Amino acid sequence: MIKKISVSDLQPGMHIHSIVDVVSSDPLLRGNRLVHSSSEVRHIQSHGVKELFIDTDKGDDTRSGPSFAEISATLQDQIRELAGGDAVAKEAPPPQTETELHRIGAEIEEASQLVHEASLMVGEIMKDARMGRNIDARPISEPIRQMKEMIERSPDAMIALALLRKSDDETLRHSLNVGILLMLFTRSLGMNSTVVEQAGTAGFLHDIGKIRIPDSLLNKKGKLNPGELSVIRQHVKHALQLLDGTPGLTPLMTTIIKQHHERIDGSGYPHGLSGSNIHKLGQMVGIVDVYDAITSKRSYRGPIESHIALREIMRWAGTLFTQSLCEQFIRCIGIYPVGSLLELRNGTFALVIQNNRSALLHPVIKTIKTPAGNTADDTPGQMIDLNMFRDQPGYSIVNHRFVHDINIDILEEMPSGTLLSTP
Ligand SMILES: [Fe+2]
Repeated sequence: MIKKISVSDLQPGMHIHSIVDVVSSDPLLRGNRLVHSSSEVRHIQSHGVKELFIDTDKGDDTRSGPSFAEISATLQDQIRELAGGDAVAKEAPPPQTETELHRIGAEIEEASQLVHEASLMVGEIMKDARMGRNIDARPISEPIRQMKEMIERSPDAMIALALLRKSDDETLRHSLNVGILLMLFTRSLGMNSTVVEQAGTAGFLHDIGKIRIPDSLLNKKGKLNPGELSVIRQHVKHALQLLDGTPGLTPLMTTIIKQHHERIDGSGYPHGLSGSNIHKLGQMVGIVDVYDAITSKRSYRGPIESHIALREIMRWAGTLFTQSLCEQFIRCIGIYPVGSLLELRNGTFALVIQNNRSALLHPVIKTIKTPAGNTADDTPGQMIDLNMFRDQPGYSIVNHRFVHDINIDILEEMPSGTLLSTP
């Protein structure tokens, strides 16, 4: 079980799952490791860590600290409150059919092709910028339009792609993800097609200024000193210079790019804007940007699970970002995004294949082999609508990980399977 604890409760023998709030290449501050001695504990405590997550299946437990289930329940309470009380949470979505569930596999394949095409185009734009050639944003409008239509048909397929895509070029991968997630976010708020499409383009281009930052600095594993931090922060100014006069760029896109690091408490950059001086889309791109940064693999740590990233975003609600936007983002992504890996109390491992939008803690899943290769209660390939099994303790979720942890091809797993009938 993953448990959040205060650093003062850390003891030798515990297995650190992840440390979210410290960026460092220090091997003792990395996640996924066992704490061997009291001196390691003191070392971690002296490096500014306030809270961390431990894995009680791999190391010692502590009596204090909320469990994974409690964190999820708190998150669900917050979502339920905003969504209008218990009525929404109790409202059961219609039972899924096998045909509906098989569709998601085909949709992920189609979405994958669209994202691949967009990736080539955005890659070309970045190459032009690096070579000092003029940039033209107009060619990406067609894949953006097709992706917007895909989001309307199957938001889950696009979320899965944004969370599972891998690339050697981190700036390109992050830029595409921010574009996709921002389109999903704007669409979930009912914004019109023109805004959704502009949000996508701006998301694709928001970090283009990083091409002028030395790779050695962008990939630096250790803590950045104030001088290095200020060089990296110049990427917003570089982006605006590179994109000045670019055909296809609108004032809204420029605002999104300009404000993606501004925060409502005035702590952001480059202008330290606060409150309503930051455009709604400027805040939304900020939320998406940090969500993708937390859930992405880094050279000094593995990817951090979506529910932990969402919990961090809720922690910043009201200080860095407007609370209602944070809550809407969680509803948009879902607590267990499609493609993530769950472990059930009965020992079953399963992939999330669809979110129940009115019951975010009870997605539709497909069982897979356990990492050890043996099967648990449910045979692999079984699709289960957890909302229909919510009263059965064996079907409660006890762990949540990203699929990178195990060696399976999600595109192969998604399209098939039989639906488990309700109890
Ligand atoms: Fe940025």
